[in-house]
Amino acid sequence: MDSSLKSKNAIVTGGALGIGKETCILLAKRGANVLVSDIKVEEGTLVVEKIQSFGGNATFLKCDVTKEDEIIELTHHFVNQNKRLDIMINNAGIANKPTFMHKVTTEVWNQLLLLDLTSVFWCQKYATKLMLADKKGGSIVNVASIAGLGASPSLGPYCVAKAGVIELTTTAALEVAKAGVRINAVCPGWTETAILDVAGERGRVAMEKNIPMGRLGKPSEVANLIAFLASEESSFITGSVYRIDGGTRS
Ligand SMILES: NC(=O)c1ccc[n+]([C@@H]2O[C@H](COP(=O)([O-])OP(=O)(O)OC[C@H]3O[C@@H](n4cnc5c(N)ncnc54)[C@H](O)[C@@H]3O)[C@@H](O)[C@H]2O)c1
Repeated sequence: MDSSLKSKNAIVTGGALGIGKETCILLAKRGANVLVSDIKVEEGTLVVEKIQSFGGNATFLKCDVTKEDEIIELTHHFVNQNKRLDIMINNAGIANKPTFMHKVTTEVWNQLLLLDLTSVFWCQKYATKLMLADKKGGSIVNVASIAGLGASPSLGPYCVAKAGVIELTTTAALEVAKAGVRINAVCPGWTETAILDVAGERGRVAMEKNIPMGRLGKPSEVANLIAFLASEESSFITGSVYRIDGGTRS
């Protein structure tokens, strides 16, 4: 445990598994009061119990990020307790089943864009409003992907959504920079989490081969970057987009 985030209130979406889970644990280890949110209640509750087992502060709130009213409730959680929201980590996301763009159905397109892009727009919007209202700044970190920085055949809807998240980040960050609200994005390369299941074992081997460091990333490595951007250590950084990908360039 260290105290670099002591007394900071942080929300993490998709905090039950993978990158979100490791981020919740790391923020709590640094002293933050963490609201773990996800659609997976059982797994999210286990994250809270793990944090409490080392003396950290955490609570679980179920939130489906495809529902705007649930996001409004989520973002207002601390404010409703007369506390403030300091850190918002917009992490929840899914990948589409590999399909060429000309075969993507409207249903898949709408679902992917809602979950991976519109939800981030809502989370960022309501968190920003709260942070502006109490004039004490704050840090928002959006989890995009290297898929949003270049073409990834078969992952079209995911690429488009993540490119949108990057643009949401850079545009809004400049709009609120003077008010002390910082907004940054992280772009992980292939990282060892359940999201890779859509690619199957063959896809996973191909991914590893394509990574110059010769291995997949670990969710805890991505969490390190997110926690840095959430903290005051990154106080002069906003509107920035960080790759974390073992050197991947295609
Ligand atoms: N793992 C990778 O290779 C990789 C690479 C680049 C970007 N990312 C991004 O990292 C983020 C986290 O993904 P991960 O790799 O940890 O995957 P993961 O599947 O382990 O975790 C995703 C989490 O999001 C939650 N979630 C899914 N739908 C939700 C909804 N409607 N509302 C709330 N929560 C929901 C899941 O329950 C899960 O806990 C995603 O935005 C993903 O696009 C992952």
